[in-house]
Formats: sequence, structure tokens, C-alpha cells
Amino acid sequence: MKIAVAGTGYVGLVTGACLAFKGHDVVCVDVDEKKVERLRSGDPVIYENGLEEVLQKCIKDGTLSFTTDYKSAYKDAEVVIISVGTPEKKDGSANLIYINGVADQIADSVERDCIIIMKSTVPIGTSDRIEARIISGLTHPVKVELASNPEFLAQGTAVENTLNPDRIIIGVKSTRAEKVLLKVYKNFDAPKLVVKRHSAEMIKYASNDFLALKISYVNEIANLCELTGADIDEVTCGMGFDPRIGSSFLRAGTGYGGSCFPKDTKALHWLSNIRGHELKTVRAAIDVNESQKLVLIKKAHSFYENFTDVNIAVLGLTFKPNTDDLRESPSLSCIPYLVDDGAKIKAWDPVGAENFKKFYPDEITYCDSISDTLEGADICFIFTEWPDVKEMDVSEFSKKMRKPLVLDGRNCFSLKEMKNKGVTYMSIGRPVIKA
Ligand code: UGA
Repeated sequence: MKIAVAGTGYVGLVTGACLAFKGHDVVCVDVDEKKVERLRSGDPVIYENGLEEVLQKCIKDGTLSFTTDYKSAYKDAEVVIISVGTPEKKDGSANLIYINGVADQIADSVERDCIIIMKSTVPIGTSDRIEARIISGLTHPVKVELASNPEFLAQGTAVENTLNPDRIIIGVKSTRAEKVLLKVYKNFDAPKLVVKRHSAEMIKYASNDFLALKISYVNEIANLCELTGADIDEVTCGMGFDPRIGSSFLRAGTGYGGSCFPKDTKALHWLSNIRGHELKTVRAAIDVNESQKLVLIKKAHSFYENFTDVNIAVLGLTFKPNTDDLRESPSLSCIPYLVDDGAKIKAWDPVGAENFKKFYPDEITYCDSISDTLEGADICFIFTEWPDVKEMDVSEFSKKMRKPLVLDGRNCFSLKEMKNKGVTYMSIGRPVIKA
């Protein structure tokens, strides 16, 4: 099928590449000329497992191309996929400025009957409004219909999630649109659920917000474990055996980040508010997460009144491993406190350091190795569970640090491993190990 994709962010780029990989003829559109140039040369621009290989194969096979010329891309596409960003506005609502812009371009360009697929995460009811906007702006006598088809890819595993999804949600209002979407996903071996458009839009928010809630719940229980002498790892292990609870997304830590959970919890809460309904559980998840992001700073304060001239090592800057994305990362919440106090900070992150330099080019020394980062440090903060951290030799802490206090926001090491290592080790929801 001839498919055009609007937007080459995480979702658009991975979706376009994977649809090409599955045999469709795909053109991806972006306004950024420089980015399009890099993508054409096979450079994925973002760090995402397996993306480069898929991208280069499809470009070579001639099934995937990139352009800034939206008219030529949308003109004769059977399907146009909208996957531009819906950033958070100051009031927490989703900003639809980019969606509206693409809708107008589609209306101005399509010259054949087509189905528009909404992949961006949008407030419930947006598909109706965008469909009406496109139809009213059409410059050719064609039949256009919109389908809601949310994505469930996670950063770091985006290609795998897209090629082998656990479900495909098809939100449509006609069998015509249903047939087209089933054709798009013909080569995907996953349950396909055909639902109303509003339900499809809600499934996306309800899924993300439930996962955010699950994490905040576990983090609250973890904080209580610390006060009661229980161990969150043992607690979640015991909980996870119950199939009604499940063992995934029960990892306690220093809060969820990224471009999705923080934004989608706030957007659904905002949406419910304007309908006169208070989404209390989601509000609680948001509040718990805000304070959880600062939990390592609170722990550090039990040792240091302020961080002036304290030598700090930071391991991991990204909101999770296998991505270079810093959005809503707990490191970005905590590091400003350390910088403001005049701490001497060294940081390591295998792919996120370059992006972090844009925020703090001079205030932080960026190191190439964990070992150099730890040299002479008084406190080590761990914000991301990169494999290099989880697999490191923990005797490095006492060998390299001056006063080894390790604050682990991702429970990278077992308590057994950290015992008798000459290190004070504080993690999330587990007993403290004293040096
Ligand atoms: C999330 C969802 O997992 C995807 O299903 C969804 O499609 C995507 O949002 C989206 O809406 O586009 P993502 O934000 O990439 O994906 O990353 P996750 O793996 O879900 O992690 C989000 C945050 O939660 C990270 O900061 C991670 O450290 C944290 N987390 C995750 C925990 O603290 N504990 C856990 O048990 C799991």
C-alpha cells in the first residue's frame, strides 16, 4: 500500500520504517530539511535499538523515502498517518497545534480517496474534530475518513514493539476504514481489536495512565517499606505471582519520566476536569511521581545539609536505559539542586550526555567511563539502570570514591552484593546498608 507518514519523531519514524519493512511503500514527511537529509542517508537521528538496520534496509530496497514536500507525499497516498507531537501545554492539556497544521496540509494535498490514521496521542474526541477540519478544507472532490490507531511502542524497544505488537487497536466508524486498516496490518501477527474511535483514543490514555499509576503505587509502597523494615523487591516479587496483578511494571524507583507518562497523565486529568469530573487516582499518580523524582536528594540531605563543594558522581542521565531521551528524567529534577548549591559534579551516560550538555555545558564534567566518574566522589547518584552500571564491579565504589555514599534510584544492585563493601548504600524501598 502507498502510505505517507506525517512527522518523523520516535513514533512516526519507527512506524514508517516498520511498515516499509513489512512490505508497504512508505514516504515520511518532516518540515526539518536537515533531519530529512540525514534520514535519507540512513542515519536514524535518534538512538533506538535496531532502527538503523531497518531504516537502511528499507531505503536500499526502495520501500522507504523521506521528504519535506508534503504535497507530493499526500497527493496519492491510500493512507496518511498523523504522528506529530502533542506536547503538554502549561495547563496540562495536549497542544494540538502540530496536528491541526498537518490536517490542513492533508486537506490541501489529497487527490484520491484515502484513510487518515491518527497515531498521535490525542484527547478523546479529537479524531472527530480533525476529520471535520480536513473535510471542510479539501481542495479535491475525494472521500476522506479518519481512523484512530494508537501506538504502544516504548522507547528503547520501539522497533520490536512495532514489528511484534501485543495488540492493534483499530478505532473506526465505517467498514471501509476497518478494511483499509486491516490491510495495513495484514502482515502483523497480533490481536486486532476494532472499536469506536472514542474508545480507541481512550484505550491509549487509560493504558498509559494505568501503568503510571502502577509505578506510583509501587513507589509509595516502597517508601513505606523503608519506614517499616520491609524490602520492596521481596514485596513486588510476592505480589507479581498473582496473575491479576502481574509482575511487570512493579519496579520501584525514583519516578517515571519520558515523553509519555508525565504528559498523558496530566492530559487525561485535564480532560476529566473540564468535563467536571476529578480523576483522583491519576492525580495521585502525578503527585506521587513529582515527589518521587526528588527522593534521592532527600536521602542525600540526611547526610549533607547542602552540597557546596561536595564531589558528586552521577551515573545515568536519561529517563530509562537504551534511549538518549532526557525528557522528564529524574536527573533533570535533581541536578539543578546540586548545581545551585555549587556541588562539583561529574556525570556519565553512554548516550544521554550529549543532550545533557545542552542544559549544563560548563557546570558538569562529563566522563567517558564509570570509573573516572567515581574518582574522588563523596556521593554517587544513580538515575538510570544502564547495563554498564548493573554489571559493574561494585568494589569500584570504595576503591574510587572518597566517602562512599551510593544513592541508587533504580535498585541496580542486590543488597547481598553491596554488603561489606565499605559503602553506605541507599536504594528505593530496601534497608540501608551502612559502610
Ligand atoms: C510508555 C509505554 O510503556 C508504552 O506502552 C507507550 O506506547 C509509550 O509510553 C507511549 O505512550 O508512547 P516509554 O515512555 O517509552 O513507554 O517507557 P517505559 O518503559 O514505559 O518507561 C517509562 C518510565 O517508567 C521510565 O522512566 C521507567 O524508568 C519508569 N518505570 C517503568 C518504572 O519506574 N518502573 C517500572 O516498573 C517500569
